[in-house]
Amino acid sequence: MSEEKKGYLSSGNGKKVTAHRFREMKQQGEKIAMLTAYDYSMAQVIDQAGIDAILVGDSASNVMVGNRTTLPMTVDQMIYHGRSVMNGVKRAMVVIDMPFGTYHSSPSEAVTNAVRIMRETEADALKLEGGEEIIESVKAILSAGIPIMGHLGLMPQSINKYGSYALRAKGDEESAKLREDARLLEEAGCFSIVLEKIPSSLAGIVARERSIPMIGIGAGPEVDGQVLVMHDMLGLNKGFSPRFLRRYAHLYEDINDAVQRYTADVKASDYPSADESY
Ligand code: KIV
Repeated sequence: MSEEKKGYLSSGNGKKVTAHRFREMKQQGEKIAMLTAYDYSMAQVIDQAGIDAILVGDSASNVMVGNRTTLPMTVDQMIYHGRSVMNGVKRAMVVIDMPFGTYHSSPSEAVTNAVRIMRETEADALKLEGGEEIIESVKAILSAGIPIMGHLGLMPQSINKYGSYALRAKGDEESAKLREDARLLEEAGCFSIVLEKIPSSLAGIVARERSIPMIGIGAGPEVDGQVLVMHDMLGLNKGFSPRFLRRYAHLYEDINDAVQRYTADVKASDYPSADESY
Protein backbone atom coordinates (compact mmCIF):
# COMPACT_ATOMS: atom_id res chain seq x y z
CA MET A 1 0.00 0.00 0.00
CA SER A 2 1.32 3.48 -0.83
CA GLU A 3 2.37 5.82 2.01
CA GLU A 4 -0.37 8.22 0.89
CA LYS A 5 -3.06 5.55 1.28
CA LYS A 6 -1.62 4.41 4.66
CA GLY A 7 -2.02 8.00 5.85
CA TYR A 8 -5.79 7.67 5.55
CA LEU A 9 -5.93 4.86 8.11
CA SER A 10 -7.01 5.56 11.68
CA SER A 11 -8.17 9.07 10.96
CA GLY A 12 -9.64 10.93 13.94
CA ASN A 13 -6.68 9.98 16.20
CA GLY A 14 -7.94 6.45 16.79
CA LYS A 15 -10.96 7.83 18.68
CA LYS A 16 -14.33 6.05 18.60
CA VAL A 17 -16.23 6.91 15.41
CA THR A 18 -19.58 8.54 16.23
CA ALA A 19 -22.52 9.97 14.29
CA HIS A 20 -20.95 13.39 14.88
CA ARG A 21 -17.67 12.19 13.34
CA PHE A 22 -19.58 10.92 10.28
CA ARG A 23 -20.88 14.43 9.62
CA GLU A 24 -17.44 15.92 10.24
CA MET A 25 -15.90 13.50 7.70
CA LYS A 26 -18.41 14.59 5.07
CA GLN A 27 -17.68 18.26 5.78
CA GLN A 28 -13.94 17.61 5.51
CA GLY A 29 -14.32 15.55 2.32
CA GLU A 30 -12.93 12.43 4.00
CA LYS A 31 -14.50 9.26 2.59
CA ILE A 32 -16.09 6.80 5.02
CA ALA A 33 -15.13 3.10 4.75
CA MET A 34 -17.72 0.62 6.02
CA LEU A 35 -17.95 -3.18 5.91
CA THR A 36 -20.33 -5.74 7.31
CA ALA A 37 -19.39 -8.15 10.08
CA TYR A 38 -21.41 -10.65 12.05
CA ASP A 39 -19.05 -12.17 14.60
CA TYR A 40 -16.44 -11.29 17.22
CA SER A 41 -13.27 -12.50 15.44
CA MET A 42 -13.87 -10.79 12.10
CA ALA A 43 -15.11 -7.63 13.78
CA GLN A 44 -11.88 -7.48 15.79
CA VAL A 45 -9.72 -7.86 12.65
CA ILE A 46 -11.52 -5.22 10.61
CA ASP A 47 -11.73 -2.78 13.52
CA GLN A 48 -8.00 -3.05 14.11
CA ALA A 49 -7.38 -2.63 10.36
CA GLY A 50 -8.92 0.85 10.62
CA ILE A 51 -12.43 0.50 9.19
CA ASP A 52 -14.61 3.51 10.11
CA ALA A 53 -17.92 1.72 10.55
CA ILE A 54 -19.21 -1.84 10.79
CA LEU A 55 -22.67 -2.84 9.66
CA VAL A 56 -24.17 -5.87 11.36
CA GLY A 57 -26.30 -6.37 8.28
CA ASP A 58 -29.29 -8.61 7.92
CA SER A 59 -27.23 -9.94 5.00
CA ALA A 60 -26.18 -12.35 7.78
CA SER A 61 -29.24 -14.22 6.53
CA ASN A 62 -27.50 -14.80 3.16
CA VAL A 63 -23.84 -15.18 4.06
CA MET A 64 -24.01 -16.72 7.54
CA VAL A 65 -27.16 -18.83 7.27
CA GLY A 66 -27.44 -19.48 3.52
CA ASN A 67 -30.98 -18.15 3.14
CA ARG A 68 -32.18 -16.82 -0.23
CA THR A 69 -33.34 -13.48 1.22
CA THR A 70 -32.82 -11.29 4.30
CA LEU A 71 -36.45 -11.71 5.38
CA PRO A 72 -36.07 -14.58 7.88
CA MET A 73 -33.80 -12.64 10.29
CA THR A 74 -35.29 -12.00 13.74
CA VAL A 75 -34.60 -9.46 16.47
CA ASP A 76 -33.03 -12.23 18.59
CA GLN A 77 -30.66 -13.19 15.76
CA MET A 78 -29.64 -9.57 15.10
CA ILE A 79 -28.96 -9.16 18.83
CA TYR A 80 -26.79 -12.31 18.82
CA HIS A 81 -24.70 -11.03 15.87
CA GLY A 82 -24.67 -7.44 17.18
CA ARG A 83 -23.43 -8.45 20.63
CA SER A 84 -20.71 -10.66 19.07
CA VAL A 85 -19.48 -7.77 16.90
CA MET A 86 -19.57 -5.26 19.75
CA ASN A 87 -17.37 -7.56 21.83
CA GLY A 88 -14.63 -7.28 19.19
CA VAL A 89 -14.76 -3.55 18.40
CA LYS A 90 -13.03 -0.58 20.02
CA ARG A 91 -13.00 2.21 17.43
CA ALA A 92 -15.43 1.65 14.56
CA MET A 93 -19.02 2.80 14.73
CA VAL A 94 -21.30 -0.26 14.91
CA VAL A 95 -24.67 -0.06 13.13
CA ILE A 96 -27.21 -2.88 13.34
CA ASP A 97 -29.95 -3.59 10.80
CA MET A 98 -33.48 -3.71 12.17
CA PRO A 99 -34.90 -6.88 10.65
CA PHE A 100 -37.84 -7.15 8.24
CA GLY A 101 -41.24 -6.49 9.78
CA THR A 102 -39.96 -5.09 13.09
CA TYR A 103 -40.57 -1.37 12.40
CA HIS A 104 -43.55 -1.40 10.05
CA SER A 105 -46.70 -2.10 12.05
CA SER A 106 -46.48 0.91 14.39
CA PRO A 107 -44.00 3.49 15.68
CA SER A 108 -44.43 2.13 19.20
CA GLU A 109 -43.56 -1.43 18.12
CA ALA A 110 -40.57 0.00 16.23
CA VAL A 111 -39.35 1.76 19.38
CA THR A 112 -39.81 -1.38 21.50
CA ASN A 113 -37.72 -3.44 19.06
CA ALA A 114 -35.12 -0.69 18.59
CA VAL A 115 -34.67 -0.18 22.33
CA ARG A 116 -34.29 -3.92 22.86
CA ILE A 117 -31.58 -4.20 20.18
CA MET A 118 -29.69 -1.20 21.57
CA ARG A 119 -30.00 -2.31 25.21
CA GLU A 120 -28.90 -5.89 24.57
CA THR A 121 -26.04 -5.11 22.17
CA GLU A 122 -24.82 -1.64 23.24
CA ALA A 123 -24.36 -0.82 19.54
CA ASP A 124 -24.02 2.77 18.30
CA ALA A 125 -26.90 3.02 15.82
CA LEU A 126 -29.56 1.18 13.84
CA LYS A 127 -30.28 1.00 10.10
CA LEU A 128 -33.81 0.90 8.62
CA GLU A 129 -34.83 0.41 4.98
CA GLY A 130 -37.28 2.89 3.47
CA GLY A 131 -38.32 6.53 3.30
CA GLU A 132 -41.74 8.13 3.57
CA GLU A 133 -43.50 4.80 4.35
CA ILE A 134 -41.56 4.35 7.60
CA ILE A 135 -40.92 7.99 8.54
CA GLU A 136 -43.13 7.90 11.67
CA SER A 137 -41.19 4.90 12.99
CA VAL A 138 -37.91 6.67 12.18
CA LYS A 139 -39.01 9.75 14.13
CA ALA A 140 -40.19 7.67 17.09
CA ILE A 141 -36.89 5.74 17.30
CA LEU A 142 -34.88 8.96 16.96
CA SER A 143 -36.89 10.51 19.78
CA ALA A 144 -35.78 7.61 21.98
CA GLY A 145 -32.22 8.89 21.46
CA ILE A 146 -31.16 6.19 19.00
CA PRO A 147 -29.12 7.31 15.96
CA ILE A 148 -30.48 6.02 12.64
CA MET A 149 -28.87 5.30 9.29
CA GLY A 150 -31.40 5.23 6.46
CA HIS A 151 -31.30 2.86 3.46
CA LEU A 152 -32.72 3.76 0.03
CA GLY A 153 -32.49 2.44 -3.53
CA LEU A 154 -32.40 -1.34 -3.67
CA MET A 155 -33.90 -2.44 -0.35
CA PRO A 156 -33.41 -6.21 0.02
CA GLN A 157 -36.21 -6.48 2.62
CA SER A 158 -38.64 -5.47 -0.19
CA ILE A 159 -37.34 -8.03 -2.69
CA ASN A 160 -40.77 -9.63 -3.06
CA LYS A 161 -42.20 -6.27 -4.11
CA TYR A 162 -39.44 -5.59 -6.69
CA GLY A 163 -39.09 -9.16 -7.94
CA SER A 164 -35.33 -8.83 -8.62
CA TYR A 165 -32.06 -7.32 -7.36
CA ALA A 166 -31.70 -5.14 -10.50
CA LEU A 167 -30.58 -1.48 -10.54
CA ARG A 168 -33.15 0.82 -8.90
CA ALA A 169 -34.27 4.41 -9.56
CA LYS A 170 -33.45 4.44 -13.30
CA GLY A 171 -36.64 6.36 -14.17
CA ASP A 172 -37.67 9.91 -13.29
CA GLU A 173 -40.46 8.94 -10.91
CA GLU A 174 -38.40 6.58 -8.78
CA SER A 175 -35.39 8.90 -8.71
CA ALA A 176 -37.57 11.86 -7.65
CA LYS A 177 -39.04 9.71 -4.86
CA LEU A 178 -35.57 8.66 -3.73
CA ARG A 179 -34.41 12.30 -3.54
CA GLU A 180 -37.53 13.22 -1.56
CA ASP A 181 -37.07 10.23 0.77
CA ALA A 182 -33.46 11.27 1.42
CA ARG A 183 -34.69 14.78 2.29
CA LEU A 184 -37.32 13.39 4.68
CA LEU A 185 -34.80 11.11 6.40
CA GLU A 186 -32.29 13.95 6.83
CA GLU A 187 -34.97 16.32 8.14
CA ALA A 188 -36.19 13.67 10.59
CA GLY A 189 -32.65 13.50 11.99
CA CYS A 190 -30.94 10.44 10.43
CA PHE A 191 -27.15 10.79 10.57
CA SER A 192 -26.42 9.00 7.29
CA ILE A 193 -28.07 7.01 4.47
CA VAL A 194 -27.02 3.91 2.54
CA LEU A 195 -27.76 4.18 -1.19
CA GLU A 196 -27.85 0.72 -2.75
CA LYS A 197 -27.57 -0.10 -6.46
CA ILE A 198 -28.68 3.15 -8.10
CA PRO A 199 -27.10 5.13 -10.98
CA SER A 200 -23.89 6.98 -10.00
CA SER A 201 -25.23 10.28 -11.30
CA LEU A 202 -28.32 10.09 -9.08
CA ALA A 203 -26.23 9.06 -6.05
CA GLY A 204 -23.96 12.07 -6.70
CA ILE A 205 -26.93 14.43 -6.86
CA VAL A 206 -28.31 13.12 -3.55
CA ALA A 207 -24.87 13.31 -1.89
CA ARG A 208 -24.51 16.95 -2.96
CA GLU A 209 -28.09 17.85 -2.01
CA ARG A 210 -27.88 16.43 1.49
CA SER A 211 -25.56 17.45 4.32
CA ILE A 212 -25.46 14.00 5.96
CA PRO A 213 -23.13 11.35 4.44
CA MET A 214 -24.41 9.04 1.72
CA ILE A 215 -22.77 5.60 1.89
CA GLY A 216 -22.94 3.77 -1.42
CA ILE A 217 -23.03 0.11 -2.43
CA GLY A 218 -23.24 -0.17 -6.18
CA ALA A 219 -23.88 3.59 -6.28
CA GLY A 220 -20.62 4.75 -7.86
CA PRO A 221 -17.88 7.07 -6.61
CA GLU A 222 -19.70 10.38 -6.14
CA VAL A 223 -20.95 9.53 -2.63
CA ASP A 224 -19.39 10.13 0.80
CA GLY A 225 -18.38 6.56 1.58
CA GLN A 226 -18.70 2.92 0.57
CA VAL A 227 -20.01 -0.24 2.20
CA LEU A 228 -19.51 -3.82 1.06
CA VAL A 229 -20.52 -7.18 2.47
CA MET A 230 -17.32 -8.55 3.97
CA HIS A 231 -17.75 -12.08 2.60
CA ASP A 232 -18.07 -10.64 -0.92
CA MET A 233 -15.00 -8.38 -0.78
CA LEU A 234 -12.90 -11.16 0.77
CA GLY A 235 -13.86 -13.55 -2.03
CA LEU A 236 -15.69 -16.06 0.17
CA ASN A 237 -18.84 -15.85 -1.87
CA LYS A 238 -17.77 -17.33 -5.22
CA GLY A 239 -21.16 -17.26 -6.90
CA PHE A 240 -21.78 -13.53 -6.39
CA SER A 241 -20.12 -11.22 -8.91
CA PRO A 242 -22.04 -7.98 -9.41
CA ARG A 243 -20.29 -5.25 -11.37
CA PHE A 244 -19.76 -3.08 -8.26
CA LEU A 245 -17.87 -5.76 -6.33
CA ARG A 246 -14.07 -5.48 -6.03
CA ARG A 247 -12.47 -8.56 -4.43
CA TYR A 248 -9.57 -7.76 -2.08
CA ALA A 249 -8.79 -11.40 -1.25
CA HIS A 250 -9.64 -14.87 -2.53
CA LEU A 251 -10.50 -16.60 0.72
CA TYR A 252 -12.64 -19.31 -0.86
CA GLU A 253 -9.59 -20.65 -2.70
CA ASP A 254 -7.24 -20.03 0.28
CA ILE A 255 -9.49 -21.86 2.75
CA ASN A 256 -10.22 -24.66 0.31
CA ASP A 257 -6.46 -25.14 -0.22
CA ALA A 258 -5.71 -25.06 3.54
CA VAL A 259 -8.42 -27.63 4.29
CA GLN A 260 -7.21 -29.93 1.49
CA ARG A 261 -3.62 -29.78 2.81
CA TYR A 262 -4.75 -30.41 6.41
CA THR A 263 -6.93 -33.35 5.34
CA ALA A 264 -4.07 -34.84 3.34
CA ASP A 265 -1.64 -34.39 6.27
CA VAL A 266 -4.00 -36.11 8.72
CA LYS A 267 -4.65 -39.01 6.35
CA ALA A 268 -0.90 -39.43 5.70
CA SER A 269 -0.21 -39.39 9.49
CA ASP A 270 2.00 -36.37 8.80
CA TYR A 271 0.10 -34.24 11.33
CA PRO A 272 0.76 -33.92 14.22
CA SER A 273 4.54 -34.30 14.21
CA ALA A 274 6.62 -35.08 17.32
CA ASP A 275 7.15 -31.31 17.81
CA GLU A 276 3.42 -30.75 17.73
CA SER A 277 2.75 -33.43 20.38
CA TYR A 278 3.10 -33.53 24.22
O1 KIV B 1 -27.49 -6.13 5.15
C1 KIV B 1 -26.54 -5.58 4.56
O2 KIV B 1 -25.44 -6.11 4.47
C2 KIV B 1 -26.78 -4.28 3.94
C3 KIV B 1 -25.73 -3.76 3.02
C4 KIV B 1 -25.84 -4.42 1.72
C5 KIV B 1 -25.75 -2.29 2.92
O3 KIV B 1 -27.79 -3.68 4.16
